[in-house]
Amino acid sequence: MRAATRSLPAKSLAGFVWGVSTSSYQIEGAANEDGRGPSIWDLYCRQAGRIANGDTGDVACDHYHRYAEDIALMRDLGVNAYRFSVAWPRIMPTGRRPTNEAGLAFYDRLIDRLIAAKIEPWLCLYHWDLPQTLDERGGWTNRDCAQWFADYATLIGSRFGDRVKRYATFNEPSVFTLFGYCLGGQAPGISSYTSLLQAIHHVNLAHGAAVDRLRASVSDASIGAIHNCQPCRPAREGAEHVLAAQKLDAYWNGAFADPQVLGHYPRLLADPIAPHQRPDDLARICRPVDWFGLNHYSPHYVVADAGNPLGVGFGPPPANVPRSGMGWPVEPEAFRETLVETNSRYRLPIYVLENGTASHDNIDAEGGVADQPRIDYLRAYTDAMFAAIKAGADVRGYFVWSLLDNFEWASGYSQRFGLIYVDYPTQRRIPKASFHWYARLIQSAPARLANIASRS
Ligand code: FCB
Repeated sequence: MRAATRSLPAKSLAGFVWGVSTSSYQIEGAANEDGRGPSIWDLYCRQAGRIANGDTGDVACDHYHRYAEDIALMRDLGVNAYRFSVAWPRIMPTGRRPTNEAGLAFYDRLIDRLIAAKIEPWLCLYHWDLPQTLDERGGWTNRDCAQWFADYATLIGSRFGDRVKRYATFNEPSVFTLFGYCLGGQAPGISSYTSLLQAIHHVNLAHGAAVDRLRASVSDASIGAIHNCQPCRPAREGAEHVLAAQKLDAYWNGAFADPQVLGHYPRLLADPIAPHQRPDDLARICRPVDWFGLNHYSPHYVVADAGNPLGVGFGPPPANVPRSGMGWPVEPEAFRETLVETNSRYRLPIYVLENGTASHDNIDAEGGVADQPRIDYLRAYTDAMFAAIKAGADVRGYFVWSLLDNFEWASGYSQRFGLIYVDYPTQRRIPKASFHWYARLIQSAPARLANIASRS
């Protein structure tokens, strides 16, 4: 890929957005309250052996009842944006009409309170909790799912569009399609290459349709999708591992961003997707968006693996690379590289909508949580982002994953990603040392960004 050559947009640096991100199933709880329907994750969590310790999102951080306290904490933190997701089955319990007024009213309360706290709501339509009823009709393997999603997008736009202007259609579509439909490890727990291809294409169609519906129902909407961009490197020497890394790169980094932004599938995917594609589909998928949402944690080290339908597996990083609590390699330089390359490939303003790390946090004798590894990680990664901006990448915002410790999918509650510690038995929130570090970063950032802009 070419390196970025653009000069820095000084105005966009002045309006740089600092935020935190969460998602519905990971924090809300209240799984059986006020008419919420079941999602694929409710059922998946109930299957033996799927989730560490048999955990579920039934209660999670009880954010459904404690959202006001959580917003007050965000205000203390000093963020000017909050990215959350709407639980589709909370507002459409079967995934289609009729709608659930109590569920819609929860998001009204959340949005109104955010606005009163001067925190801009960034609403993500889909962070993996597909209504179970739709899964029973094939879920993302069914082409009709794009239409169901479009109708859900219309509901969101017409209900919240007077107050919410920032919309992301999907969070990390490559993660939930790859692990949910092919490699295993996520809901709905299918392992089939054909299902993966169908899911990829139908999610792309759903994205394009939702962009159109949001434009039609929200004035001044600012719309994007959230892609997890991670360099894919071979973990071992040998042609088969090099090929596996190229294959994973196509599925992980290109399967959604390329058709949505550039209007074509990556070369390695074009033939496999073709049987599921109709003549006008790429034009329906490639609808104009306003920005590129980018999540990044680490690079991938890839091996060939005949044990799954895609033929790829995740190998260990080199022995000298430090790892996070999740075992993910900590390599800030890969983040800088990713931002610069994404900038030059897609030519859209970038918002980093997730970055953060899991560490083994504990409450200490003084009642605080000294999470130095998270501070080290965030410092190194935000420095890498500033370096990318200096190199010309048009990055306009940064959101930490996550505000709170929460339900980390197959790891359950065993991994803590929050700036705020959640004591699950009591639901007490304890801001960690990293919370105070991030608050200071946000305060000092305007001067730092102005300095970068003046030198460009
Ligand atoms: C991302 C997910 C998010 C969270 C973080 C750690 O892949 O979008 O929900 O699980 O990883």
